Amino acid sequence: MEINRQIKLFEKQAGKYAKRARKQTVDHKWRRKLLHSAEGNILEISVGAGTNFQYYPEDAEITAVDFSPTMIEQAKGVAAERNLKVDFMVENVEELDLPARSFDTVVSTLSMCSYPNPEKVLDKLGTLCKEEGQILLLEHGVSTNRLVSSFQHLMDPLVKNRIGCHVNRDMLKLLNDSTLEIKRVESSLFNSVHLVWARPLHA
Ligand SMILES: C[S@@+](CC[C@H](N)C(=O)[O-])C[C@H]1O[C@@H](n2cnc3c(N)ncnc32)[C@H](O)[C@@H]1O
Repeated sequence: MEINRQIKLFEKQAGKYAKRARKQTVDHKWRRKLLHSAEGNILEISVGAGTNFQYYPEDAEITAVDFSPTMIEQAKGVAAERNLKVDFMVENVEELDLPARSFDTVVSTLSMCSYPNPEKVLDKLGTLCKEEGQILLLEHGVSTNRLVSSFQHLMDPLVKNRIGCHVNRDMLKLLNDSTLEIKRVESSLFNSVHLVWARPLHA
């Protein structure tokens, strides 16, 4: 999908994401579990409406990226309410140009479904994270349950077109093929949602 159309799709959804950011929906138990160790210089890619900000310590130095200016505006509001120090960037994550090895914690939640080249983004996360740093991911993808995966394959073109996300990516394969060292994975919902603790390979 052409990038400007993709940005427009997410721009339209920013209000919905902002409302959801303030509700304790089911994903919060995963976010809480994954992000309680987030600390230091944090990079969050595709930050959306700032749903994860409530899990970061007050003294964290956060860099938050999203290509949707409206999402960023929503996230700015949440950061201000929580007194967080956040450097916001309106950028395409696939083109992100930041100094290598500059972040203690790199976070992506529910974003790998939307990039045209998720493998490129995963590798980039590995280069941006400090050698001794951590990469924390909450991502969804194709289930190992055949009934669920058939439905995901069927729905994928429609969902991609309506909300900009693929629902049938093989996330575990993408992770295993990436340049990240995967430390731990916890999967749920018929193995379609994954909490991932990783770090740069050879760290
Ligand atoms: C499904 S939402 C997830 C938002 C947030 N991470 C969360 O957990 O609620 C995907 C987000 O990725 C952003 N996004 C998608 N592709 C992007 C890209 N190539 N560069 C920057 N942001 C992108 C969208 O604007 C949207 O805010």
